Amino acid sequence: MERKRVLSGVQPTGALHLGNWLGAIRNWVDLQISHETFFCVVDLHAITVPHDPAVLSENTLSTAALYIACGIDPKVSSIFIQSQIAAHSELCWLLNCVTPLNWLERMIQFKEKAVKQGDNVSVGLLDYPVLMAADILLYDSDLVPVGEDQKQHLELARDIAQQRINSRYNNTKDRPVLKIPKPLIIKEGAKVMSLTDGRKKMSKSDPNEGSRIGLLDPPELITKKIKRAKTDQYIGLEFDNPDRPEADNLLTIYSILSGLGKEESTNQCKEMGWGKFKPLLGDVTVSALEPIQAKYKDLMQERTELRKILQAGKSDAEEVAQATLKRVHSALGLTCRE
Ligand code: AMP
Ligand code: TRP
Repeated sequence: MERKRVLSGVQPTGALHLGNWLGAIRNWVDLQISHETFFCVVDLHAITVPHDPAVLSENTLSTAALYIACGIDPKVSSIFIQSQIAAHSELCWLLNCVTPLNWLERMIQFKEKAVKQGDNVSVGLLDYPVLMAADILLYDSDLVPVGEDQKQHLELARDIAQQRINSRYNNTKDRPVLKIPKPLIIKEGAKVMSLTDGRKKMSKSDPNEGSRIGLLDPPELITKKIKRAKTDQYIGLEFDNPDRPEADNLLTIYSILSGLGKEESTNQCKEMGWGKFKPLLGDVTVSALEPIQAKYKDLMQERTELRKILQAGKSDAEEVAQATLKRVHSALGLTCRE
């Protein structure tokens, strides 16, 4: 039986944090065994808001290195940089021409990000979800593992593919022009919350560094951030108490990183005070990140291997992307290419 295909990506917009790992990348690692997997660094998405070119270029390589350090195996998965495959921008244009403007105007992430940009909102920021749809649809992806916040973008990709391409331009009869992807949202860790406010998502863009644990944070800094994390007045850690979002969040992180799971970590921590729990969580977090940081350091020191991996990923991706683009060209009547 043919393996289902998975595609996902993260923007190289800053140091990846625990939320990116537990909500996204960690799930990719398991999927490699059972699926055909493509993982890209979506640098074209990163320029939809003002950016520094030198920083972007370094972050792009560093994000790719972190994928590998987190366990994405380049022998099994194709790892590539989005901007190196021109088909992403090309398909994005084709999809732009069939996507209603009001579908984009109601995207939650656009509305949130647009507010932050004041009167300097780029067309690219509005178009961000269409580029994401292009990323996904180019690879005939069956499944797209993402965090909860990306669900609306996934729905949009499905709607564009189904309602605006397949049902209008399905002239190939035997197969639809585009495959309809499904989101894959793994509940556990799907949303890691901020260390300073258990009701807010841990995010790269939070101005308070103490709100997140970077995957490359040194051990002392991790310990310090956890020590300062927001707590409440109760003794004993517990899951799912709506009045105790911080307890739920930190215990979730603990249960995943320790490998104990929900039940065992509840048993272990239900009577524990914050003063005892925090050092425990600190140790578990430092140990979980240690191998990732070591592998990352190796990859970034000697970059030849990393560049080779990205070259191979590019060539795998190019092959699939070109085939899809050709189908869409033909469906839309752009036939002078042959
Ligand atoms: P971003 O950092 O917004 O570029 O997100 C990259 C990936 O990580 C996406 O799949 C997000 O859904 C996921 N992600 C980002 N922040 C979190 C978080 N706090 N908890 C869980 N997943 C997250
Ligand atoms: N928008 C996604 C995020 O912020 C990143 C992304 C871009 C993506 N293209 C994608 C994720 C394709 C999955 C598939 O996390």
